[in-house]
Amino acid sequence: MLSYQHSYHAGNHADVLKHIVLGEVLAAMQQKDAPMFALDAFASRGNCDLDSAEALKNREFDSGIGRIWPHRHEPMPEGVARWLLAVRSMNNDDRCTTYPGSTALLHHWQRDQDRLAACEMHPQEFDALRSSFRSSRSLALHKRDAYEALRALLPPKEKRGLVFIDPSYEEKDEYRRIAQAVTDAYPHFRAGVYLIWYPLLPAGRQRELFRALQKSGIRKILRVELEGNGAFGDTDRPMQMQGSGMLIVNPPWHAAQSIRISLNWLKQVLCPTAGTARSDWLVPE
Ligand SMILES: C[S@@+](CC[C@H](N)C(=O)[O-])C[C@H]1O[C@@H](n2cnc3c(N)ncnc32)[C@H](O)[C@@H]1O
Repeated sequence: MLSYQHSYHAGNHADVLKHIVLGEVLAAMQQKDAPMFALDAFASRGNCDLDSAEALKNREFDSGIGRIWPHRHEPMPEGVARWLLAVRSMNNDDRCTTYPGSTALLHHWQRDQDRLAACEMHPQEFDALRSSFRSSRSLALHKRDAYEALRALLPPKEKRGLVFIDPSYEEKDEYRRIAQAVTDAYPHFRAGVYLIWYPLLPAGRQRELFRALQKSGIRKILRVELEGNGAFGDTDRPMQMQGSGMLIVNPPWHAAQSIRISLNWLKQVLCPTAGTARSDWLVPE
């Protein structure tokens, strides 16, 4: 039984990074008019209430949206502005109380011709998702295992699509499972853009994900990381997330360029003195 609930972490530095990168990739893909498919394989609840007891328990949003919100009226890179505009459209201008998760953002940015599928296994999280969004021709909500959905829903009929893989990493072997799931999905959908989020924890298990993907034969994998070096919590606590990263298989060229600009801005705002921003090819073309 899954116990992870995203409300405790909503709006933190990792959410901010993943959602900005998600918006960058989607916008680059939407430069073409052709319909596209998005699969939000690990969806969570859609929207998180930052005034809820769960969000207020550790106030993780202070490390992310809390540091960005004061800059909302200032100039900023296009990729950050696109995401912040979406967040602002769900809030009053004075405070950010509703933090949109991946399904809410993908739904917000969806065009008439696009299709979105979101999968969530946790009963409460799925109920929350279903109460926020109504399934329609262009939005399918699945109470379904993400690994099974990756096999069943790919390739999409549109032949163009983005696959967002954002697991909770509750199990130690999840890094290897994710690499295997992408390796298995890829031959069926080579044109797909796969975005894989991972935490930077002292145990360094993301390296298992890297090694497995490096051996998979898949080319063109961009790595984007933001590490706080203490700006996101004590570095000596074993379970303290020090930062996070995204791997992007087949990143659209425009997105790779503008993600670098957004990442540098994020570093300046979230962790100006200590942080490290990194963007390189885990596997080149
Ligand atoms: C990190 S959260 C997702 C956050 C969300 N993508 C966002 O950006 O707002 C991971 C979610 O995946 C769900 N989950 C974990 N394992 C799953 C599985 N095998 N299939 C579907 N959902 C799963 C968890 O219940 C949790 O809600």
